[in-house]
Amino acid sequence: MNEQGSMNVDSLGTWWRTHNCGALRRENVGQEAVLMGWVNSRRDLGSLIFIDLRDREGITQVVFDPQVEPNIHKRARVLRNEWVLAVRGIVTPRLEGQENPSMPTGEVELKVRELKILNLTEPPPFQVDGAVDASETLRLKYRYLELRRPQLFNNFRKRHRIASCIREYLDREGFIEVETPFLTRSTPEGARDYLVPSRVNRGRFYALPQSPQLFKQLLMMAGFDRYYQIVRCFRDEDLRADRQPEFTQVDLEMAFVDEERVMGVFETMMEELFEKVLDHRIDSPIPRLTFQDAMDRFGTDRPDLRFGMEICDISHIAARSDFRVFQGAVDSGGRVKGILVKGAASAYSRKGLDELSGVVRAAGAKGLAWIKVTDGTWQSSLTKFFSENDRRALNQALGAGSEDLILIVADKGETVNRALGALRLEVARHLDLIPEDRYAFVWITQFPLFEYDETEGRLAAVHHPFTSPFEEDLNLLSEDPEKVRARAYDLVLNGSEIGGGSIRIHRLSVQEEIFRTLGISPEEARSKFGFLLDALKYGAPPHGGMALGFDRLVAIMTGVRSIREIIAFPKTTSAGCLLTDAPSLVDEDQLKELGLRLYSENSDI
Ligand code: AMO
Ligand code: AMP
Repeated sequence: MNEQGSMNVDSLGTWWRTHNCGALRRENVGQEAVLMGWVNSRRDLGSLIFIDLRDREGITQVVFDPQVEPNIHKRARVLRNEWVLAVRGIVTPRLEGQENPSMPTGEVELKVRELKILNLTEPPPFQVDGAVDASETLRLKYRYLELRRPQLFNNFRKRHRIASCIREYLDREGFIEVETPFLTRSTPEGARDYLVPSRVNRGRFYALPQSPQLFKQLLMMAGFDRYYQIVRCFRDEDLRADRQPEFTQVDLEMAFVDEERVMGVFETMMEELFEKVLDHRIDSPIPRLTFQDAMDRFGTDRPDLRFGMEICDISHIAARSDFRVFQGAVDSGGRVKGILVKGAASAYSRKGLDELSGVVRAAGAKGLAWIKVTDGTWQSSLTKFFSENDRRALNQALGAGSEDLILIVADKGETVNRALGALRLEVARHLDLIPEDRYAFVWITQFPLFEYDETEGRLAAVHHPFTSPFEEDLNLLSEDPEKVRARAYDLVLNGSEIGGGSIRIHRLSVQEEIFRTLGISPEEARSKFGFLLDALKYGAPPHGGMALGFDRLVAIMTGVRSIREIIAFPKTTSAGCLLTDAPSLVDEDQLKELGLRLYSENSDI
C-alpha cells in the first residue's frame, strides 16, 4: 500500500502540544490535552480503536470511540505503526482492570475528539517498539528508527546528564574549556592516525588527533593553569565492544601539580557524579594497586575488583612436587600459580575443564592443571605427585576446604599471570560470580615507562613519550630502561580502563633523553615534535593531567554492554557507518585536486 501518494496529510497549523507522551496521570483526568508522536502500536477492536502514541518521553494510550466522534473513529481505522499524529482529547481514567501499572501513564487514556495525521510511513524495516528484534546491521542502517525507542533515548539523556555534571564540577574547580585543533599533526597514543589530505598544500596531510595531548601541554606552558575539554578523539585501531574509531574523552590538564592532585580531582568528580546521577556512594578513597601487584594478583592491569579469586603463587610448594611440568617451570625461572574457585568442585565436567584449558592456551599458556578438593582430599591427576604434607600446604596456601576447585598454570611468570587473569574472568562470568550492581574503582599506578615491542624490536612508551619518569629512576634510563617507572596512573572501573594520565616531562633535557631511549633520533624528534621541544625551552611549569574515556564511563553507568548503545551514530567493527555508507569512494576530480591517485589492491606500488 502506498498511502503516501493516495492520502492527504494534515498540517500542524496552530496546534500546540500540551503534554508529552509520558506525562499524563490520574491528576489530569478531566483536562483537555494535545499529544503528538508516533503510532507505537494499534489495536482495532471494531468498536474501539486503541493507539499507543509514543514520543521520547514515553507512551500514552489514546482511544477512538465511535460514540464520541464517528468520523474521526472512521479515519483512525487506517492508522498504521509509525505514522505521525497529533490528537486532541480529554484525559479519562481507564476502566477498572484495564490499568497498566508497568506504564507511568497506565492509569489514564486520552479520548480523542480531533485527529491530525501529520505524516505517513512506508512499512518500517523493523518494529520500532522492539517486540521482534532486528539484526544489528538493519538497526544501524536505520538508526534513527531504533533511536525512537524511549529506552534508548534514556541512555542519551543519561549521557547528557553525566556530561553536564562533569562540566558543572570542573567549572566550580576553576577549569576552563578550550577547544584544540582537529586538523593537526600526529599525536602518538599508540594507534594509527586518520589522515586528511590538504588541497592547498598538495601532498601534505593533517592527522586527526588521537588525543589533545600536546595542545593541552602547550596550554599549560601558556599559563592557562587548568584546562578541560569534552572532546572527540580519532584512532584507527582494531575495534571491539568498548572501542570506536571516534570516541569522546573528558580531557584535563593542570599546572603546578603532582599525581595526588590530578587523581584527587577525578576521585571527587567520580564521587559527585555517581551520587548525583545514580544516587550511589562509591567507596572512597578509591583503592590503589601498583601495576606489578595488579599483574601478580589479578593477571591484568585492569582488574575487575567486584569479586575476589585472587591469583596465588604456589611455586615454592609446586617445586617440591614430582610433577615435571611444575619443576621445569620453576627451574627455568618461571612460576606456578593458582586460583581457588570456592564451592566449584562439581561446577565443571571434564568437557568444561577442557574448555577452561582452551582459555589459558589462548592466553599463551601450555596447559591447565586442576584439583577438586573435598574435605581437604584431592581428586586430581596431580595427587600422586604431591606428598600429603605438600597437599595440605597447597590447600592452606590457597584456602581450599570443602567442595572447592583449584586451577593451576605453570609457565613464565608473565604468561601465568595473563592466563590466570583470563581464566579468573571466564570462571567468574560462567559461574555468575560478578555482582552487577557494584561499582569497583581502582587506580593502577607505577607503570613501567617503556615496554619492549617484539614486532618493532625496540622499546616503546607504555603510555605516550611525554610521561615523566620517577625522579629516583632517572639513573636507570641508560642501563636498565625497562625498570624505569612512569608517573602514570590509570583509573579502572569494573575491569574496564576508563581513564589514564600522567605527570608530564617539563624539562627539555629529560624529554630529549626519553626520545633517545626510544630510539627516536634528534632529527626525527625535531621534525615530529619540534614545536613541543621549543616550548619546553621557554619556561614550562610542572604539569600533569588525565583523560577519561567518556563513552566507557557512560556505558557502565547506564548498564549497557557496548559503547555503541550510548553513541548516537556508532560505527561497525570494520569502522563503517551503515547509515551514511561512509567511508565512500570519491570522484576522480576530487582526488586530482588533492594530488592523489589510487593504486589497485594488487598493483605494485
Ligand atoms: P589514553 O590513550 O589512555 O590516554 O585514553 C584515555 C581513555 O580513553 C578511552 N579510550 C577509548 N574509548 C573508546 N574507544 C577507543 N578507541 C578508545 N581509546 C581510548 C579509554 C582510555 O582510558 N592523552 C592521554 C591522556 C593523558 O595522558 O592525559 C590519552 O589519550 O577509556
Ligand atoms: P601432560 O603431562 O602434558 O599430559 O599434562 C598433565 C596435566 O597437566 C594436564 O591436565 C595438563 O593440562 C596439565 N598441564 C600441562 N602443562 C601445564 C602447565 N604449563 N601448567 C599447568 N598445567 C599443565
